[in-house]
Amino acid sequence: MQTITTHEPSAINGHLSTQPTFLCEEFSYDPPADSCILIVDSQEINRRVLRGILKSSRYRILEATSAEDAFTVLDREKVDLIIVDFVLPQMSGPDLCRRLKSNRKTQFIPIVILTSVQGAENEINGMASGADEFLTQPLHGDVVRARIRAMLRNKAAVDSLEEAENILFALAQAIEHRDPCTAGHCQRLAAYSAATGIAMGLPRTSIIALHRGGYLHDIGKIVIPDSILYKQGPLTVEEWEIMRTHTIRGEQICQAMKTLAPVLPIIRHHHERYDGSGYPDGLRGTEIPLLARILQVSDIYDALTTARPYKPAFSSARAMSILEEECQAGWRDPDIVQVFSEVLKNAPIGPEPVAWDEGWIVQQSLHNLHRELSR
Ligand SMILES: [Fe+2]
Repeated sequence: MQTITTHEPSAINGHLSTQPTFLCEEFSYDPPADSCILIVDSQEINRRVLRGILKSSRYRILEATSAEDAFTVLDREKVDLIIVDFVLPQMSGPDLCRRLKSNRKTQFIPIVILTSVQGAENEINGMASGADEFLTQPLHGDVVRARIRAMLRNKAAVDSLEEAENILFALAQAIEHRDPCTAGHCQRLAAYSAATGIAMGLPRTSIIALHRGGYLHDIGKIVIPDSILYKQGPLTVEEWEIMRTHTIRGEQICQAMKTLAPVLPIIRHHHERYDGSGYPDGLRGTEIPLLARILQVSDIYDALTTARPYKPAFSSARAMSILEEECQAGWRDPDIVQVFSEVLKNAPIGPEPVAWDEGWIVQQSLHNLHRELSR
C-alpha cells in the first residue's frame, strides 16, 4: 500500500485553509476531493464536533446556523451533502429537509438529520421529510465518516450519470439542428408522445420513457453519412439499407446507460409497421413495443404537419386523414391513432404544449435515476 501525503484544501466557516491529509491507493473509490458539505446547526459545539470528525477528510466544510442561513449558502455554493440538526430556530430540521427535497435545484443533495433525542418517532419524522440518513448523537466518528463517504460517492455517480445523459440529449438535439427542416421536431415529439401516454393512463415510467424517446429516437443518425441523410431525391436500395441502421445504432449508443433501458425499445422499433413490413425486425401488431407504436404515430404526424423540401406542411386534419389511411393499409396501430386524435382534439398541442408538464417529467426522471443508484 502506497501512502501519499498531500496538502489538500479544507475549510472552516467557508474559509479555505491548507491542512495535510493522507491518500491511500485503496481509497480510489473516495468521493471527489472537492466535495462540499454544509453543516446546519445553531449550536457551535455541535458544529465543532462534526468538524472534528471530518477533519481528516478532504471535504470542504461550510456552516450555517439556521435554515435561512442555509438557503443563503445554497444560493451561492455548490453543495454535495447537507448535515442538519433536528432542532433549528424558526424552521425545524425535517421542515428544512422537506423544503430542500421539494426544490428541483436541491432535491438530489443527500441530507443527514442529526438528533440527540433517542426514539423511533423522531427517526420516522426525519426520514418522512425525505432525509437520506438519520444519525443519533453522540456520534461515532467512524460511522459518520463511512456514511458520508457512501452518500457522497452516490451523489458523484448521480452527477456523472446526469452529465452523461445531458450529453446524449445535447447530441440528439445537435443532430436535429443540423437540418433546419426538423427544428423543434424532438421537442414536439416528446410532447405529443407524453400527452398520448398520459391519455392512455400509462405509468409514470412509461411517460418519462416517451418523453426521452422523443429526443433520442433518431440518435443513431449520427453514424449515417450526410450524403445519405441530406440527399436531395430518392435514396438507392443500398442507401436505404444504411439509413435503416439508425435504429440499431441508436440502441447501441444508448444501451450503455442503464437508466435509458425503458427508451431502448422506442429507439430500436420506431420504424416497425403493424403488419410486419417495417424495420429493423419486422415485428407485427402487439409484438411491437407499445411505446414505440405511440412514438411512431407522433413522429409521422409531426413529419406530415411540418414543411420538408419535398412537401409543404399539411394541416392537422389532412395529417390525421393520412394516418387513418395508413391504419387501413395495416401499417399503424388504429387504437393508438384513435387516442392520438382525441388528444389533439381535447388538448391541442402547439409549439408550447399544455397537455403535460416538462418540469414534472424531468423531475420524475431524475428521481428514478437517484433511486436506481441508491439501490
Ligand atoms: Fe427514425
